[in-house]
Amino acid sequence: MADGFSVPLTVEQMYGDWGMEWEDAIAKTDSSLGPRPRTSMYETLGAWGISPGSHVLDIGGRDGAQALDLAERFGVRVLSVDPVQANIDAGAEPIADHEHGHLVESRIGSIDAIPAGDDTFEAVFSRDMMGHVADLEGALGECRRVLKPGGVMVIHDVFATPLLEPAESARLCADLAQVPERLDIGLFERIVEQAGFVIESVDRVGSEWLEHLLEPEDGEKRLLRAARLNRDRDQFVEAMGVVPFRVVQANNLWTIYRMIGKLEDRVYLIRSQGGPTDSTGTGHTA
Ligand SMILES: C[S@@+](CC[C@H](N)C(=O)[O-])C[C@H]1O[C@@H](n2cnc3c(N)ncnc32)[C@H](O)[C@@H]1O
Repeated sequence: MADGFSVPLTVEQMYGDWGMEWEDAIAKTDSSLGPRPRTSMYETLGAWGISPGSHVLDIGGRDGAQALDLAERFGVRVLSVDPVQANIDAGAEPIADHEHGHLVESRIGSIDAIPAGDDTFEAVFSRDMMGHVADLEGALGECRRVLKPGGVMVIHDVFATPLLEPAESARLCADLAQVPERLDIGLFERIVEQAGFVIESVDRVGSEWLEHLLEPEDGEKRLLRAARLNRDRDQFVEAMGVVPFRVVQANNLWTIYRMIGKLEDRVYLIRSQGGPTDSTGTGHTA
């Protein structure tokens, strides 16, 4: 028995004497493992060496909330870029009212055409948005254009593990505007390198951020909601409309799959290699 997992259990093993009661075994899983919050991503940026006065791009920054966090934490100037006008509008007042709001600017735009000049930023921050990007190599090329030579990107993304079934992947991608190829870790890493970046570190966050989020509340609520939506689909579609139903249910499953290891959260620190791209646009001459 190499690891105890490779052979099916017998009925005797399953129901027999474990040397402990069921309740005692379950109780062992009720203690927190001390998961990190999702702000651990800020620490990745801080450890790289961001300093007050540096200029940071938050791409896919939604309403600018994490731009404000970065400004407050590091004293950096942050440009938050998002393509959805409602997100920009939602952030206008919080940014204006925030103590560090003067360090934050929010602009409409996309990673495909970043509204900033060449060599502007020391760092690009991207949390939970690359999954929406069809042309990842082009997008990373745009980030490289606006980065100063040697600048870095801190990228959080969610990837599929071998446990995610094709039908589960197809449903999630269709309902969350997710590009299916972006779930592929190997492809992501290849494109990062083709775009002229070096992978400096990979933080396999796994389920930590969600454990941290859900420990104070009843995490099982997501399961209950998913079960109810599944069981009485027509009633919920009638009550909320088909698009909200699809997005809400896919969000439940996205969370549950990240909790049980069908999806894996990772944070990459990647560094732009200085100099121009080569004539193919896919490699590097420097
Ligand atoms: C899941 S939200 C994450 C928001 C924020 N980064 C966070 O972690 O709270 C994804 C964000 O990516 C933005 N987005 C989608 N496509 C984009 C694109 N092509 N360029 C930049 N942002 C994009 C969406 O508008 C949305 O605000």
